[in-house]
Amino acid sequence: MNLLKYAIVSIFSFILLIGCGGKEEKKKDGFSYEKKESEPNKKVDENVANVVISGNDMMKFDKTEIKVGAGKKVKLTLRHTGQLDKNVMGHNFVLLKQGVDLMAFGIKAASAKDTGYIPVDAKDDVIAYTKLIGGGETTVVEFDAPESGEYDFLCSFPGHYGMMKGKFIVE
Ligand code: CO
Repeated sequence: MNLLKYAIVSIFSFILLIGCGGKEEKKKDGFSYEKKESEPNKKVDENVANVVISGNDMMKFDKTEIKVGAGKKVKLTLRHTGQLDKNVMGHNFVLLKQGVDLMAFGIKAASAKDTGYIPVDAKDDVIAYTKLIGGGETTVVEFDAPESGEYDFLCSFPGHYGMMKGKFIVE
């Protein structure tokens, strides 16, 4: 009985050991060398804030607040979990610079269909943005987190900024 218990514990520990140690060597990119020893989840790069936000056919984001750490690279994935076409229920993610009025931007953006509802002359207002997507699509944007503070984000598809908006907080 005791022997069996011992055997099971040993095997389990061994599996754990392999599980933790096995992937150790794989990730040798410049960012991740510093925290190898105790981090079992090797896919996480601590310098990257992975953010996933979804929009649906009900004209809603699944998040109204996003938090990332200062100094991070942000990898933001936007998913459209609905089915409607992007001409009907298009979604993007637009992160505004501080001091830019969200509603004013939303109104201006509504007439910028040709550029994915990002006004050509408004690029100074924007920290980052994704392309416009429709149901079932996914898109990714990567950018450096701005300095600590609160920022507005929105979907700039016409009429969506009222419902599809939130705070992007860098702390
Ligand atoms: Co939208």
